Amino acid sequence: MKRKILVATTNPGKVAELRAMLDLDIEWAGLSDFPNIQEIDEDGKTFAENARKKALGYAKQTGLWTIADDSGLVVDALAGEPGVKSARFSGAKDKERTLLDHKNMAKVLKLLKAVPEEKRTAIFMCCLCLASPDKVLIETEGKLQGVIAEEETGTNGFGYDPIFFVPGLNKTVAQLTSEEKNAISHRGGAIRKLKPPLEQLLESI
Ligand code: IMP
Repeated sequence: MKRKILVATTNPGKVAELRAMLDLDIEWAGLSDFPNIQEIDEDGKTFAENARKKALGYAKQTGLWTIADDSGLVVDALAGEPGVKSARFSGAKDKERTLLDHKNMAKVLKLLKAVPEEKRTAIFMCCLCLASPDKVLIETEGKLQGVIAEEETGTNGFGYDPIFFVPGLNKTVAQLTSEEKNAISHRGGAIRKLKPPLEQLLESI
């Protein structure tokens, strides 16, 4: 029988992304398949801690193996901020995602105003965790290195993409197509690293 794996997201795009990138004989589910599930708070101090907490929390509630991720922007000159606070860095409570993204980016740009280019280094970081109801099974991480630009450029992607400049490509992430982004992104990297141990695990049970 096919193993069913829950992806800890309400975003069908993220489930489809995992399904396509892992390309394994698995039946996938998302959080929207469990309308009464209790939301797990992302209150950990690290991306890995949040991913673990969500994977174990949702696996316990559903009895299913669960994959959870946590990701964000880590800026060297800001001692690692916004980090796990990436989604809510500006403190604004706007419901509209793009408005919130602009406010978050504006705060980063303001804090880096006097910081020269060579010190504007940053990474996008993604931690993934696969857990069963009683233990962590696999953890992976992916990183994308870049530099925080001085202004927003590009309209693709989401979050901090318009200010995250990738020197090797001479573009911000918001100027990349989704295929180009997947090929280099922190999330793409973490998902690709998950595939071999997951295949092994599926064969061993
Ligand atoms: P999540 O863990 O995927 O929900 O990401 C948390 C926050 O980190 C998002 O709301 C974004 O602000 C930021 N973030 C994570 N991944 C990316 C990315 O690929 N591009 C831009 N921002 C990102």
